[in-house]
Amino acid sequence: MTYHQATYDEPLLSEIHSDNRYKVPDADENLMALIPEEIRSAGAKLPEIAEYDVVRHFTRLSQMNYGVDLGIYPLGSCTMKFNPKFADRIASMEEFSETHPLIGDQNIQGSLKIMYDLQRYLSELSDMDAVSLQPLAGAQGEYTGILIIRKYLESIGELEKRKEIIIPDSAHGTNPASAAMAGFDVVEIPSSSDGTVDLEALKSAISDRTAAFMITNPNTLGLFEKRITEIAEIVHGSGALLYYDGANFNAIMGITSPGLMGFDVVHFNLHKTFATPHGGGGPGSGPVGVKKFLSEFLPVPVVEKADDGRYFLNYDLRNTIGKVAPYYGAFSTILRAWAYITYHGYDGLTENTVRAVLNTNYLVKRLQNDFKIPFGTLKKHELVLTTENTGKRALDMAKFLIDLGIHAPTVYFPLNVHEDMMIEPTETVSRRDLDVFADALISASKQDDESLKSHPVNLSVGRIDEVKAARQLKLHW
Ligand SMILES: Cc1ncc(COP(=O)(O)O)c(C=O)c1O
Repeated sequence: MTYHQATYDEPLLSEIHSDNRYKVPDADENLMALIPEEIRSAGAKLPEIAEYDVVRHFTRLSQMNYGVDLGIYPLGSCTMKFNPKFADRIASMEEFSETHPLIGDQNIQGSLKIMYDLQRYLSELSDMDAVSLQPLAGAQGEYTGILIIRKYLESIGELEKRKEIIIPDSAHGTNPASAAMAGFDVVEIPSSSDGTVDLEALKSAISDRTAAFMITNPNTLGLFEKRITEIAEIVHGSGALLYYDGANFNAIMGITSPGLMGFDVVHFNLHKTFATPHGGGGPGSGPVGVKKFLSEFLPVPVVEKADDGRYFLNYDLRNTIGKVAPYYGAFSTILRAWAYITYHGYDGLTENTVRAVLNTNYLVKRLQNDFKIPFGTLKKHELVLTTENTGKRALDMAKFLIDLGIHAPTVYFPLNVHEDMMIEPTETVSRRDLDVFADALISASKQDDESLKSHPVNLSVGRIDEVKAARQLKLHW
């Protein structure tokens, strides 16, 4: 496959000078007089350029980029699936996009019904009893879930004692960050030699100081924690709670659920499992689901249905942790997730799960002779391989793939495998694309070192110095 990304020396929007420029009107003096002098600012200095220059600017930027509409985007753990266009169309309908967030409940019954239905769908899919759609990302869902655990422990007089959250070493970095931000001490336990939770390590770490054990299942190695009910017994037996990081829900949806496995709190990544274009930090939505005994702690508002059939926003939960986001959460992502679930139905969602797992295992079969795939070859939604046996660096291979017009997988995560690539194809890739990807990766492993290090050459930027880029950020706007 030949691929050449467009290259433009593109200025910032504010540096473009249009002949036919749009002029931002001067402030109306009468209106300005209504604003107290001490809070008036000098003006926003908005770019004054013609529409055609704006559209061309962003189109040129998009040509120097890669997205899910171009091809496979196998970033493990991120679940970058193709986003169906009908969901975007629904989210852009002006009946939704033009609704003012402070309009009264009586005027947005349709929107509230959608939120109410989504809460129910998520409860049903996860076997949880109540859901709040408030959090704006997976990480914020985690933080919210841990705040719920915190408030619950406080309500039963255990918070003073239970200050620790146990997390396995394969966890996503947001897990320990959320636990620490919510005021807990993080206790990391090593994985066992088969890559799953080490029950002995868990037993020795757990105590009456433990607030919760936080895991994802399948874990970040794509392995299903088969002893999850035993884990739940150990955790609950010590009086702690079990937290489910739902970022990997795409691997089990319709087949099993966190509720059935014994989890007490879960967050969903709507932008992953239920398709919303995301990346580079947004947009996202991380609803939280809980078992009944925790429902009074959920963030508000939750959408409820009155006896007369009307929907309303309930801000009055007895022990709520309060608000964690402005208004009602990320409404456009909520709409897309609702549309996605409604379109696929339970059987369609289950079929997607099966296809996602099948695609991953197809890649395992295609790659297992050329790469070492630790912890067995039966995976769920993603696989982690190491490039160590090829003598090549995962980073160099990733750059080689990009040069062929294939988005690279996640590299160097999880941390318990060296020189690793974490590959999650999702259900939205054809067998042909899986073969193209596998062939490209195998071809990367056979390149000589010198040529591998020269990539990328076909992109709008060459190899960047990643350490310098992270340490010496030069932002301008
Ligand atoms: C396993 C896992 N947990 C949590 C998160 C955090 O989700 P978000 O990026 O929506 O904040 C991610 C994101 O990649 C993840 O892969």
